Amino acid sequence: MKDFDYLGKNDIYLDSACQSLRPRPVQEALLEYYNKHNSCGERVKYDWGVTTDKKVEATRDKVLKYLKLKKRDYFVSFTLNTTYGINLILSQLDVKKLGIKRVITSEIEHNSPFLSTMTFAETHKIRREVVPRLDSGEMPEDYDYSNAVVVVNSVCNFDGRRLENIKTLTKIIHKAGGILIIDAAQGLAHDKDLLEKTDADAICFSAHKMYAPSLGGIIMKRKLLPFIHTTFVGGGMVDDVLRDKYFLSAENKDHAYTKFEAGLQAWGEIIALGKAIDWLEERTKADHERLEELSQKLFDALKSHEKIHVLNTEARPTISFYVEGIDSHLLGAALADQGIMARTGYFCVHYYLDHVRHYPPLVRFSLGYHTREEDIEKVIKALEKI
Ligand SMILES: Cc1ncc(COP(=O)(O)O)c(C=O)c1O
Repeated sequence: MKDFDYLGKNDIYLDSACQSLRPRPVQEALLEYYNKHNSCGERVKYDWGVTTDKKVEATRDKVLKYLKLKKRDYFVSFTLNTTYGINLILSQLDVKKLGIKRVITSEIEHNSPFLSTMTFAETHKIRREVVPRLDSGEMPEDYDYSNAVVVVNSVCNFDGRRLENIKTLTKIIHKAGGILIIDAAQGLAHDKDLLEKTDADAICFSAHKMYAPSLGGIIMKRKLLPFIHTTFVGGGMVDDVLRDKYFLSAENKDHAYTKFEAGLQAWGEIIALGKAIDWLEERTKADHERLEELSQKLFDALKSHEKIHVLNTEARPTISFYVEGIDSHLLGAALADQGIMARTGYFCVHYYLDHVRHYPPLVRFSLGYHTREEDIEKVIKALEKI
């Protein structure tokens, strides 16, 4: 694809689940900010700042539009990454006011929600439950979600399984007096359909996993705002400050996003995220099909070898496996010698992969729109040789 023309012929990048490659237009949007209007947002009156403000505001709108959400119902704040977003929400949630008595996560979660739900339970002296997820990726619908904060991913980071029943699950959780926080770290690049018109209470995402620069985001239901007890505070969040008191700008519905944006923001990165969303919206049916075909080809090749144990039950752009008799870290190094960039280990899912399933360290290939047919052929050949 021309937007990745900087990629060397022998550079086979298969670590998109960690960070996507950034297409040229996204890189250019970031450079344009540095070269043409490098300025602070929301504080300055000069032209550069006005341009920055307009573009940042446009990005907030694009995030909502991308998921077909209404500005009336949701707002978008920017953070560092998904981990930071989930922690920011959980550490400031007013549990008493919300009537929360439990926190629920699933077995296949990344350490990001897995650990933060532990500290949340400890802080509030409430029970934490770790629910097995179905092989299909769904959360059980007959589980008791009453008065619980539920934090789960929409797409899993080692086998790409999807939370297909997210809509029903959201209804069940709400009916039971709970709230749903979605870890959408893997969910916005190739699987945003799951979150379109969502009724989830909050969605945390990482722009760097959706073809944008390093940046995080929180999409939150406005109705949840009164239940956030703001303790992480600083510049850019207040309308006025007295000696021992301050007045948060988030009280004004047009500035709700300031609730989570303490201090100066990554203006250039935010603007480039806007460009990444435009770019993602421009992907054609053929682009999606190509990614699916390449994923299928790799999945079939891996599955066809009796010594290769693939974790996926179906082809997805993220595929994990181990090879009987070969240490995955050594395999990763051998692949790296041939220009193949893959990940090895447990991908921050230690609990499930190591302690529940007792898998040896794994290899993960994660594809993106930049992946070429010849990359997959080379990977298959390299594996056969090894
Ligand atoms: C499912 C999932 N959740 C959370 C994270 C954490 O993302 P970040 O490191 O950007 O906070 C990742 C990162 O790989 C992930 O795959």
